[in-house]
This record gives sequence, structure tokens and C-alpha cells, in this order.
Amino acid sequence: MFQLTGRVALVTGAASGIGRATAMRLGHEGALLFLADLDEAGLRETVAGLGDDVESKTFVLDVADPAACQRAVTTCVETFGKLDILANIAGIALCDHMTAIKDEQWERMLGTNLSGVFYMCRAAMPHLVETQGCVVNMASSAGLEGQAYNSAYCATKAGVLMFSKSLALEFSKQRVRVNAVCPGHVNTPLVEKFNFPEGGDMALLGRLVPLLDAAEPDEIAAAVTYLCTDDARFITGIGLPIDGGQTAG
Ligand code: NAI
Repeated sequence: MFQLTGRVALVTGAASGIGRATAMRLGHEGALLFLADLDEAGLRETVAGLGDDVESKTFVLDVADPAACQRAVTTCVETFGKLDILANIAGIALCDHMTAIKDEQWERMLGTNLSGVFYMCRAAMPHLVETQGCVVNMASSAGLEGQAYNSAYCATKAGVLMFSKSLALEFSKQRVRVNAVCPGHVNTPLVEKFNFPEGGDMALLGRLVPLLDAAEPDEIAAAVTYLCTDDARFITGIGLPIDGGQTAG
């Protein structure tokens, strides 16, 4: 039974990891896919993995560029006629001593992880109001708790969470649902970039250890997909932890 037949889904970060897994899952539930990412080769690999039954279009996008975000949404609607689902999954990591973070790293982090979510939501919202659609934004356990050497990333993910909750309220009467997902450790290329900074204090990382091992991208994609289905009709404004108990205490 396909739960998303005929729905149009725009997924950012679709060239790798959780975004790719989400594209696969939404596609297999019947959604038409508009897949956006900086990484063109990665997008091609995602499409190759979808098989012939899933209709998709790719778009090379830097989510930190507001005009490009607007073009992506416009192209999606021109291609498929509407937009039902926006999944903002693109993101980058930065692990370092706060005092070592350079202006351009901070700005890139905010531009990609936080402003990108705003640019995409702003461009998409008029279309989502028309379809009574939904948004799922990728936050993180790093948006629920402070983490040593992860200050910039935590700041963006806490921002994504509160931005999502605020939109859920602002657009509730138009029946657009907005939720965030807060994964802990997921096995993707991104976690390889969380290298422990030189001279860092291991004792400060205690809370980062999940009770279980690590999630697979598919497990996060399953939650994102559920939040996009009609089964989740009454769910809006949540930040769903999927973190093996990391933030339970
Ligand atoms: P990934 O590195 O496998 O995928 C991230 C994708 O985002 C890549 O395809 C990359 O090209 C794309 N991207 C990066 N900057 C972009 C930009 N400016 N414009 C468009 N696309 C851009 O990483 P992963 O793990 O799949 O991450 C996906 C999301 O999940 C991110 O927002 C990340 O912060 C979040 N997350 C990941 C966790 C993990 O442990 N892997 C845990 C919690 C949240």
C-alpha cells in the first residue's frame, strides 16, 4: 500500500546519507521527487538507486543562496505542478574549539544549516498552503543539548528546531504541518567530519554517547516519511529525537 502516491516531495541533501535514504523511502511510497543538492554526481547516484518506477528530477542547489532556493521551488512546481512535501535535510558539520572557528566557517555553517532551511521554507510555503502540505526539517540531538566542540553546529540545530515549531504555529490554520527530526549518531559520511579537536577534553564528551550504537540513514528516513503521511495528520510542531537514548537523561 503506497501512502504518498501522487504527492510531490522536494528533498534537499538528497545526494548522500539521510537525504538519499529519505528520497528512496518517499519514492517507494509513491511520491514524485524533486531532488536538490550541491553534489551533482551524488544526485545521479541517488536517481540510479531509485529504479525506473520512481519519477524524479534533480537540481544542483546551494541552500545558502536564497535566490537559488527560490529557483529550486519554482522549478519543482513548474515540473510537477505543485508541492506537497518539503524535506530540508542538507547540512554540514564543524567540530572545533569555539575560539578556533573562523568567520567564514561560522557563516557557512549558519548559511547552510539554518538560513538554508529558512530560504527553502519561505519559498515553498505559498505552495504548501495551497496543497495543505507539510515540512520536515532535519535538526539533531545537537539541537536538544549542548555539546562541547560543537557550538556552531548546536546553534544551527537548536535554531532549526525553534524555527520549525514557530512555523507549525504560524501555519496551523492553513493546515501546513511543520515538524523537525533530531537524530543522534547516524552512519553517514557527515560523521566522519566530526573529528575530535586537538587538545580537546574527552571528559566533556560523555553525554554524546548513545545508549545504543548508531542509527542507519534508513531508520531516520522512515521517521521522516511517516511524518509526511496522513497517519501523522495530528502531528505538528514536534522535534522527534531518534538518538538511542542520548538525550533521555
Ligand atoms: P551527508 O554528508 O551524508 O549528507 C549531507 C548532504 O548535504 C550532502 O549530499 C551534501 O552535498 C549536502 N549539502 C551540504 N551543503 C549543502 C548546501 N549548501 N546546499 C545543498 N546541499 C548541501 O550527511 P547526513 O548525515 O546525511 O546529514 C543530513 C542531515 O542530517 C544534516 O542536516 C545533518 O546535520 C543531519 N544530522 C546528521 C546526523 C548524523 O549523525 N549523520 C545526526 C543528526 C543530524
